[in-house]
Amino acid sequence: MNAAARLMLIIALAGPSLSGAQGPRQLAPPAASLGHPAVAGDGAACITCHEEIAASRVMHGPAAAGQCRTCHVVDTSRGVRRVTLKGAGANGETAALCVTCHEDLADRLKQEHRHAPVASGKCTACHDPHGSPFKFQLPVEAGRACLSCHQDIADALTQSYVHPPAAASCQICHDPHASAQPAQLRARSNKVCLACHITAPADRTAADFPLLFGRHSADAMDRLAASGSRILLDASLTVGHPVRGHPIQGRKDPSRKGRPLDCASCHNPHGSAGAKLLRFGATGISSLCIRCHGK
Ligand code: HEC
Ligand code: HEC
Ligand code: HEC
Ligand code: HEC
Ligand code: HEC
Ligand code: HEC
Ligand code: HEC
Ligand code: HEC
Ligand code: HEC
Repeated sequence: MNAAARLMLIIALAGPSLSGAQGPRQLAPPAASLGHPAVAGDGAACITCHEEIAASRVMHGPAAAGQCRTCHVVDTSRGVRRVTLKGAGANGETAALCVTCHEDLADRLKQEHRHAPVASGKCTACHDPHGSPFKFQLPVEAGRACLSCHQDIADALTQSYVHPPAAASCQICHDPHASAQPAQLRARSNKVCLACHITAPADRTAADFPLLFGRHSADAMDRLAASGSRILLDASLTVGHPVRGHPIQGRKDPSRKGRPLDCASCHNPHGSAGAKLLRFGATGISSLCIRCHGK
């Protein structure tokens, strides 16, 4: 309901004593004594007062079907009527509630590398439980759903050299919820990159192309993959770039403590001030090599 309608309702419920010339603060009745209005029924009965809940372009299945009570419980236990959430945790944790229906997600959420808001059970940090103007009930279109919390990555996308898949959608490489790989990558870091940057891999499973890239349309992904420039590697796919004999995995990264050498050791997967997405602000090969081969 809109603010005016809500106010009218509160006034009506609280009786004539509150409808005088007081400011809005005094108008609000003590919630504990008033409680939620009596309700019989579900769906349409709720929407009479909560019409904004059903007004979104992309509605969530059960909310669209008017099954408000699959998630909400009208609870009158301690004399006060309240509408609570089924199985929700104390701090806005809804994961347990959500997976009662989204069972297929339960196993995926148990993977080792869970995204912070998912690990704390806050599904509603990204999804509106009722509906929104965008697919998956996200607050913005899916390709932009991450930038509100990741300003550093948003900044990378304003650099002179932007990686086309990062501009297209974060979910091409990252799972928004959890994965078996660090940074919720959809596959071990180099595998994600090689899917688009090697020519017809000898072993097609090295790319696992169909398994990568989540729910993006195969056409769009094929186009991105086809336009990625190819790098030269030997048959093991572990050596041969950027110069002959150079390893791209299986060693420690001398420039980043505790991290393995991989594509992201030299390239920023999101965007960079330097050509070829080089890291360290390197604008040419020489300023890059000395980062690891300094002495
Ligand atoms: C007669 C009007 C009316 C009906 C019918 C109604 N609500 Fe409400 N609801 C309200 C008002 C008034 C509030 C408290 C003011 C506010 O914050 O919107 C409220 C608040 C809520 C809240 C916030 C938590 C709380 O207890 O304050 C939820 C959740 C809720 N309603 C769900 C429902 C559901 C589910 C139904 C149907 C089973 C329903 N409502 C039917 C008027 C109504
Ligand atoms: C899939 C579970 C689910 C269903 C179905 C559902 N809700 Fe909710 N609802 C929630 C959750 C979760 C919240 C808490 C939102 C938050 O944490 O931001 C909520 C909050 C609310 C609130 C509080 C104000 C707000 O907008 O956050 C109202 C009112 C409400 N729901 C009404 C309804 C009505 C009416 C229906 C049926 C048309 C409904 N809900 C169906 C999960 C659900
Ligand atoms: C009562 C069962 C139920 C609960 C509880 C529930 N969902 Fe759903 N959800 C559905 C149904 C049914 C659909 C529509 C069918 C589908 O697309 O899978 C759906 C669809 C979705 C979609 C869109 C999926 C798509 O492919 O378009 C998202 C995202 C989603 N739910 C998230 C949540 C979140 C987050 C919660 C917890 C706040 C939640 N759901 C709780 C039943 C439920
Ligand atoms: C950081 C934001 C974020 C959080 C937190 C989040 N999701 Fe999602 N979710 C997304 C995005 C983005 C998509 C769209 C996936 C895509 O584009 O491939 C999605 C898709 C979904 C889908 C439909 C597709 C699928 O993968 O099955 C469901 C269901 C879903 N989320 C449920 C949940 C549940 C349950 C939680 C809480 C445990 C949750 N989400 C937490 C961002 C989030
Ligand atoms: C509600 C805020 C929020 C949203 C939205 C959000 N994130 Fe995060 N994300 C976090 C927090 C908090 C962390 C943990 C602190 C950090 O590393 O910045 C994190 C960490 C990460 C990490 C680093 C994990 C690691 O192990 O180093 C990645 C990758 C990531 N998020 C990707 C995404 C993607 C992709 C999306 C969009 C689907 C997204 N985030 C949307 C809050 C958010
Ligand atoms: C082409 C694949 C790819 C795409 C697309 C992509 N990322 Fe990443 N992202 C990575 C890789 C690989 C890493 C690990 C980098 C490393 O090892 O330093 C990473 C790391 C991260 C981190 C961890 C912190 C950091 O800077 O290392 C965050 C947060 C993140 N990505 C968010 C995003 C967001 C938000 C988007 C969409 C705008 C996005 N990513 C798109 C591949 C990608
Ligand atoms: C979905 C396909 C796709 C994936 C996955 C992908 N890229 Fe790209 N990449 C592209 C496209 C398209 C371009 C722009 C065309 C080009 O110059 O190659 C590009 C450009 C680049 C460039 C700049 C090339 C130049 O000539 O300026 C580098 C470096 C690069 N990618 C590295 C990576 C790394 C590292 C990863 C893994 C973290 C990765 N890419 C994953 C598609 C992809
Ligand atoms: C040791 C640093 C290093 C590593 C590791 C590395 N690259 Fe590069 N990459 C470079 C340099 C330097 C260039 C620029 C070469 C040039 O301009 O001749 C480059 C160029 C590229 C280009 C552009 C090719 C072109 O035709 O211009 C792509 C695409 C690329 N790398 C992808 C990758 C992928 C994918 C990985 C992981 C499998 C990777 N790189 C690992 C340093 C590295
Ligand atoms: C991110 C760190 C990093 C950067 C940047 C880097 N390298 Fe390396 N390089 C390594 C590592 C690690 C090895 C393996 C060292 C070992 O085996 O002990 C290596 C090995 C080499 C080797 C020996 C290869 C062989 O045949 O065994 C050469 C030559 C080399 N690098 C040249 C370069 C050049 C040229 C550049 C700049 C284009 C460069 N490296 C940039 C990390 C890096």
